[in-house]
Amino acid sequence: MVGIIAAMNIELELIKSKLDDITEEKSGGITFYRGFYKNSEVVCAVCGIGKVFAAMCAEAMIIKYQPAVIINTGVAGALSKDLKQLDCTVAEKCVQHDMDTSPLGDPVGMISGINKIYFEADKKYSDILMSCYGKTKPVYCTIASGDAFVCDKDKKEYITKTFGASVCDMESAAIAHVCYVAETPFVISRVISDNADDNANLDFLTVCKKAADISSAATLKFINKCGGKK
Ligand code: ADE
Repeated sequence: MVGIIAAMNIELELIKSKLDDITEEKSGGITFYRGFYKNSEVVCAVCGIGKVFAAMCAEAMIIKYQPAVIINTGVAGALSKDLKQLDCTVAEKCVQHDMDTSPLGDPVGMISGINKIYFEADKKYSDILMSCYGKTKPVYCTIASGDAFVCDKDKKEYITKTFGASVCDMESAAIAHVCYVAETPFVISRVISDNADDNANLDFLTVCKKAADISSAATLKFINKCGGKK
């Protein structure tokens, strides 16, 4: 079974519309939709915005369904000048840019206990995901996640310089964190909606649906390639 997590309804609606035999189940406050895409079994959910909702959803999904792989699909802000709106990205690794215990002597971004800064996405599944975008060639990237919509120059520069990240969002690294602890492979598909700059809020609203659907289309192909059969 493939597990799919999106932060917002708009990022999941295309996928949900393509599923057959959908059943709805609730667990841990999250509504899960279970169904089939071309005979491959999937479970999907809209987790809500931010790291806490994303982590809750990933944890509940893993405990309830034990998916073979979790894919997080949606939109993201570009930190790198080389990325523009509607460019497609696949995470090589994820980091939480707002995790900071540096006053205690730790490196910025390090998660105490497991002592990790970056969470690597599953290489085998990510290579498959890379092949699911058709003509729009995706790029591998480092995604920095945090509980903030990045919409200013200084914050953007800080995240880029500190973590070498080229993309930002608000959920990927939280899902990655849960998947690492729960030993579940994960991949991230994100299409750029804005440049995380002063115009990001307006740009986001303008292309969010288009960007979300490009990521969803790639996610559907991914399910087809990786899903278990009925
Ligand atoms: N998701 C899409 N654009 C974003 C941004 N600028 N910051 C954080 N998350 C985003």
